[in-house]
Amino acid sequence: VAPQGGGKLAFKAIAPVPRTVDAVTVPEGYDWAPIIRWGDPLFNNTAAFDITKQSAKRQAGQFGYNNDYLNIIVDKYSGRSGLLVANHEYTNEDLMFDSVWFEANKTEAAKIAMEAHGFSIVEVKRVKSGTPWEYVRGAERNRRITATTPFTVDGPAAGSELLKTVADPTGRTVLGTLNNCAGGTTPWGTVLSGEENFNQYFRGQGSASDARYGIADAATERRWEDVDPRFSARNPGYENEINRFGWIVEIDPQNPNSTPVKHTALGRFKHEGANVRIADDGRVVAYSGDDERFDYVYKFISKDKYRRGDRRHNMRLLSAGDLYVAKFAGNSPVAEIDGAATVPADGSFDGTGTWIPLTLDGESMVPGMSLEEVLVYTRLAGDKVGATKMDRPEDVEPSPVTGKLYIALTNNTQRNTTGKATVDEANPRTKNRDGHVIELTERNNNATATSFNWNILLVAGDPTKDASTYFSGFPKDKVSPISCPDNLAFDSKGNLWISTDGQPGTIGYCDALHKVTLTGSQRGKVEQFLAVPAGAETCGPLIHDRDGSVFVSVQHPGEGGTFQEPTSFFPDYVMNPSKAKRGDVYGPRPSVIQVFTKAKGH
Ligand code: FEO
Ligand code: CA
Ligand code: CA
Ligand code: CA
Repeated sequence: VAPQGGGKLAFKAIAPVPRTVDAVTVPEGYDWAPIIRWGDPLFNNTAAFDITKQSAKRQAGQFGYNNDYLNIIVDKYSGRSGLLVANHEYTNEDLMFDSVWFEANKTEAAKIAMEAHGFSIVEVKRVKSGTPWEYVRGAERNRRITATTPFTVDGPAAGSELLKTVADPTGRTVLGTLNNCAGGTTPWGTVLSGEENFNQYFRGQGSASDARYGIADAATERRWEDVDPRFSARNPGYENEINRFGWIVEIDPQNPNSTPVKHTALGRFKHEGANVRIADDGRVVAYSGDDERFDYVYKFISKDKYRRGDRRHNMRLLSAGDLYVAKFAGNSPVAEIDGAATVPADGSFDGTGTWIPLTLDGESMVPGMSLEEVLVYTRLAGDKVGATKMDRPEDVEPSPVTGKLYIALTNNTQRNTTGKATVDEANPRTKNRDGHVIELTERNNNATATSFNWNILLVAGDPTKDASTYFSGFPKDKVSPISCPDNLAFDSKGNLWISTDGQPGTIGYCDALHKVTLTGSQRGKVEQFLAVPAGAETCGPLIHDRDGSVFVSVQHPGEGGTFQEPTSFFPDYVMNPSKAKRGDVYGPRPSVIQVFTKAKGH
């Protein structure tokens, strides 16, 4: 069956899928297959995945857990080889381990989990352009980066007293990266990734800054502090270990021997990810959201300019520059939009805004805070300058076609509740369960501008049940329901693709990937392309429309179930444990999948 409508990646929107369905659902004319799954061996000397024999040593050579950010960087000279880069945000011990084994082997389980975090970089190959990719075990560029891999700290806070520990008195070398969520690939071919909910790995000391970052002075759920003293600030000499996480990291995927970097110039918060645009004058601008209720959107402008082809120079661009935080102003009375996100009288949720400098020319712009303090305690700096409290900024990504910036605000059920910030035109919905997406245009479309215009592209939800939904005026009876926008991507024509995290708990459907038209008479039209299996979140969407391919990271399939009683069997669907051979995995495995037109399938 040919896909409908003609053209590459044409499709007829699928119906939303009830949340218990344990299947990948794709449009008519398309099929899917996994490229790589949790536990798949990356190296020739790595043992094949066998959960009954899993160890930290094995995991260190295998694809990690809970893949989130994804890119496939195609080698230009052939088009038939490339690099798949994925990060591994966190681990689900309930799904990874037999509970009896886990109770008896907590130290080894924690070490396995540490090696299941981080990144996988793995070569992929295909017969020809447009055919499905396969990963190549033992390829030269294959690499794992985990919670124990050394990183170099750079930028103004490198070497700061705030980053020194007994194990690293220089404050310049950190072991590992944690909770890497979304990311972006730079114009110079490196991969950026955000260290997001790093707070959950550490026991704190009950300070005010700990509180602002959600770090508790209590045993953590993972109990890594029982295995490695650096995970508790109560252990003398490790008070600052937690300051060494919460950064944007940069990795050169082409060089497996390179040391990955943590960039302090971009500030420390729960970075969802970072995405780069090159300004007209050659400086690079990196946008990043802080994924927390009532937290902020940031941008960084490099001091130096991009030089085409000079990779060594470009890999220093994020090491020095100015950091800004966003303040939004609406142009309609808030009273008009209080309550149910009714469209304001002027026809749109819109207004202007400014980027408030936190650092400029290597100096702090925040009264009472040093440069190092602004970078290490960036949330406190944002509080002081009166940045706009947003509904959980997830991906913040400029369109490669128009330069306009899209900001996924996933939800904030505490908006306008007792003691919390009230609605404003940029965050217009009380108890915002389903989220919204803002479109931001820099002044004169100049990425280094310090002011901007903005409007809301869509107010998410199920339009059949929720009058507060809004799709830039597109008819509500002609859109797919969408909730909890998280990751963003663009196709070659500039359409926006949105993956979701949380639809099962809000509108009752499996998480999804949607295409949104941004221009012309169809602007605001949301069309669902796929659904991921029960319990999973859709991550890392990657749209290679010229090849007729879509890729997604299927994260935490079967979350809510357990190893003994799985609720998902994705992606292998070995359904009957009694028929499984010893060593078979019949529960779910987080995987990167490819969706392709049937004509080009296996
Ligand atoms: Fe890890 Fe903000 O999602
Ligand atoms: Ca308005
Ligand atoms: Ca995310
Ligand atoms: Ca998420």
